[in-house]
Amino acid sequence: MAILFSDSTYRADNIFAALQSVLPDLRKFPDTGNREEIEYAVIWYPQAGSLRDLPNLKAIFSVAAGVDGIMNDTTLPDVPLIRTVDDGLTQGMVEYAIYNVLRFHRHFHLYDRQQHGSEWKQHPQIRPQNRRIGVMGLGEMGRAVAEALVALKFDVRGWSRSPKEITGIKTFVGEKALTDFLSQTEILINVLPLTTETRGILNAKTLGALPDGAFLINAGRGAHMVDGDVLAALNSRKLTAAALDVFTPEPLAPESPFWKHPTVTVTPHIASITDFSAVARNIINNIKLLKNGQIPAGLVDRQRGY
Ligand SMILES: NC(=O)c1ccc[n+]([C@@H]2O[C@H](COP(=O)([O-])OP(=O)(O)OC[C@H]3O[C@@H](n4cnc5c(N)ncnc54)[C@H](OP(=O)(O)O)[C@@H]3O)[C@@H](O)[C@H]2O)c1
Repeated sequence: MAILFSDSTYRADNIFAALQSVLPDLRKFPDTGNREEIEYAVIWYPQAGSLRDLPNLKAIFSVAAGVDGIMNDTTLPDVPLIRTVDDGLTQGMVEYAIYNVLRFHRHFHLYDRQQHGSEWKQHPQIRPQNRRIGVMGLGEMGRAVAEALVALKFDVRGWSRSPKEITGIKTFVGEKALTDFLSQTEILINVLPLTTETRGILNAKTLGALPDGAFLINAGRGAHMVDGDVLAALNSRKLTAAALDVFTPEPLAPESPFWKHPTVTVTPHIASITDFSAVARNIINNIKLLKNGQIPAGLVDRQRGY
């Protein structure tokens, strides 16, 4: 059994090296060797067409939680597509979200700036029960983030495509409820997958529906943002500040206005850093499940796009 690795990003060599130490007979595209031997593929943003003409391909694994890098590839073989679901990945996202919520909620973004100007000024401490937080996406990441916020006593809302019942969280479903959800959200956390429906969802209209002075935390994908609209909302103070972890393209271009914007915190896609040896172990477990005719964790619904 051989496994083909295909990724076109700047991280490809590092990812390959990490996976290679755990996965048997891992080959890096275009060095496929005998194509008939390849039974599985591991990808992030694969080279277009690299998974074509693999007659014995049984499944494709994404090393990431998102599969947006692959859904537009019309040459994608019709085999199960499985994304990464991992406790460590979810925990990283919870930490990133909680850190940034507390930073904004307790005004640490202001205290950072004040220290540079030797300014001694206290800001009001708002009780978490009186801070309304909205989480876009209530899947593996969003649900864990929302539950961690409830544990800290925040007033939490969540928005998803299908109905959810989660203790302590007010849930909103679908496009019709989006404006209502946003109008009650002072700190917006985006952990949606990137699909045709969610591309550009952080735009002038949706940001305009937030209360004045809201905060944005984007850890979904860069293409969820209409960059110019996010910058305009920051410049007009519609948004007080933003913590942005994902961009289009990545790495973020040196000339991007996000880098030097006084109310933006840029991080280099680190909300949750993938542990590739855990990914490789998940792949091995999922291959066992597939061989036994069982459903692997993280099976993607191609129709929905996530
Ligand atoms: N920055 C980072 O380091 C990092 C790390 C990991 C993941 N991520 C991002 O986080 C995303 C989410 O990961 P996940 O594991 O939580 O995915 P998931 O388990 O598939 O959850 C996705 C959630 O989004 C909701 N959703 C999807 N399309 C929607 C729509 N059109 N309208 C409303 N809700 C919609 C889904 O609703 P239903 O529940 O109704 O299906 C679900 O609740 C990934 O795709 C990736 O882009 C980023």
